[in-house]
Amino acid sequence: MTNLHAHGEVPVTDGELVAEASAQVAGAVSLDALAVVEGELLGRKSPLAARQKTLGALDPDARREAGQELQAVRGQIEALVAARRAVLEETAYAERLAADRLDLTEVLEGDPPWRGHLHLVQRTRDELEDVFAGMGFAVAEGPEVETDWYNFEALNMPPAHPARGMWDTLYLNLGEPETVVLRTHTSPVQIRLMQSQAPPVYAVMPGRCYRRDTPDARHIPTFNQIEGLVVDRGISFADLAGTIETFTTAYFGAGIHSRLRPSYFPFTEPSAEYEITCTICGGAGCRTCSHTGWIELGGCGMVDPAVFAAVGLDDETWSGFAFGFGIDRCAQMRHEIPDMRVLLENDVRLLRQI
Ligand code: PHE
Repeated sequence: MTNLHAHGEVPVTDGELVAEASAQVAGAVSLDALAVVEGELLGRKSPLAARQKTLGALDPDARREAGQELQAVRGQIEALVAARRAVLEETAYAERLAADRLDLTEVLEGDPPWRGHLHLVQRTRDELEDVFAGMGFAVAEGPEVETDWYNFEALNMPPAHPARGMWDTLYLNLGEPETVVLRTHTSPVQIRLMQSQAPPVYAVMPGRCYRRDTPDARHIPTFNQIEGLVVDRGISFADLAGTIETFTTAYFGAGIHSRLRPSYFPFTEPSAEYEITCTICGGAGCRTCSHTGWIELGGCGMVDPAVFAAVGLDDETWSGFAFGFGIDRCAQMRHEIPDMRVLLENDVRLLRQI
């Protein structure tokens, strides 16, 4: 170790310089403090810089040697600073993480902690299935991605049929253009069911549907329907009306009734709109029901002969009815939810209430 410069308080040897620097670096407890220490050790007013200045007085050989040593010392101190900085950055990062931590198991209120429950739409679907199971219906499901044939054509809507405009369809970029769709209703499951089993059929078919709707208080582009299908001998419109009324009182309660209003669907004839007593005002008339006392829940009707033809059933032997309505709408009505969009937003403050 060379004694380059030995006076004042400047550390004398390389070893002393590095040892002192090491102590100072270790004493820096934050990144800011380390930056200050770094300036003191390596900056223009550092002992190192002071020693650098003395080099000029040496003869060339000694200067080169001393210069190299000084450079080595600088390198060691820089390495100490860098190592300390890495440690402090790690700590700072860990502290930031700890501060930002979101405790998803947080107990919002109450004891024992809230463990969550099924989403309202799922519970509504389960309850609807239960009611229909109690009435002797089986439960079936179909795919959410459908071909044009199942979603439209087999339901008596040939290509370019104007009734297709009743559904704002989302097409998938699969196969030929406009041949694969996100199903706009659960009615295609009627077709699949009649293809897969011989009558009699008594079934409900719940599931998710998609329409190119702009979300508002009563429409969401992803929603749930429950379809019903009965195919048997001698089924009449009275069976349809009775089934709807039985279901309505079973699900909504004794004070809520149903009524059918003439309507049009390509796959049922005659067709009707299915309405229930407004659950908000009990039928007296309010803003929600536009002062009619009734709320529309879905559509229904007698299976059209063209639909039987599409699945190869003889409409002289078989008759039937179908209905379809919104599960989300049922939940909205029974729980008096003013805006349907909350069902998709997943705000835990709301979800734990419903
Ligand atoms: N699929 C129709 C709709 O989504 C409802 C419906 C189902 C109508 C069954 C008649 C029979 O609007």
